[in-house]
Amino acid sequence: MRGKLVAGNWKMNGNLASNQSLLKSLIPLLKPISGTRCAVCVPYPYLNQTEQVLRGSGIAWGAQDVCEYDHGAYTGGVSAGMVADFGCRYVIVGHSERRALFGDTDKAVALKFAAVLKAGLTPILCVGETLAEREAGVAEQVVARQMDAVTLHSGIAGLGQAVMAYEPVWAIGTGKTATPDEAQAMHAYIRGRVAEQDMRVADGLPLLYGGSVKAANAEQLFAMPDIDGGLIGGASLVAEEFAAICRAA
Ligand code: PGA
Repeated sequence: MRGKLVAGNWKMNGNLASNQSLLKSLIPLLKPISGTRCAVCVPYPYLNQTEQVLRGSGIAWGAQDVCEYDHGAYTGGVSAGMVADFGCRYVIVGHSERRALFGDTDKAVALKFAAVLKAGLTPILCVGETLAEREAGVAEQVVARQMDAVTLHSGIAGLGQAVMAYEPVWAIGTGKTATPDEAQAMHAYIRGRVAEQDMRVADGLPLLYGGSVKAANAEQLFAMPDIDGGLIGGASLVAEEFAAICRAA
């Protein structure tokens, strides 16, 4: 049985002082929650701080991206092995902001996904269409293309060791959430596409929804049969709000 997972994506926010207070507040708030795994994905410089504060708390942590290469002359790059040194469990790959603002291609995302697996960590693979793509009726094709790039490289077995997040680009940071039915429809499509290749992987794949999830809409979204939790941006920066979303799961 796939359980529920709620992962925070802090994006490029925080500092030593604000992180300390956010992380410390989360520990007692999340402790009583059973049956849902909770995680925070933080900027690289704060992985050590996060590990120091969260170790032993039951809350997992992770990074928001990695370089596709293992080591070498890649100035500014951070490898999956490096983030593994800080006790990370998860690494987000293919977030739409990486794809749109930093030029991550489907191929680069596939290589990053493989690098995360190779380091023994769990990739959170993000897929999702833009508003223009949705209006043009090609949302499913876009998501299929993004998934196929990864399965072509790592096999369907690779997805069996991963988490996926459906994040419609038009819902990220906009306050516009996909309705539970809209989200469920795409989640069912994604799971169905995996099932065509491997039923067991499809059944076990944790499939998160992301895009303006708040305490107020989380419960309805997470009640859908193919939505196994959320990837939370803005609301993960407020301890009470993030905890309420975890409780909803
Ligand atoms: P949001 O971001 O919750 O702020 O919309 C979600 C994400 O980008 O992962």
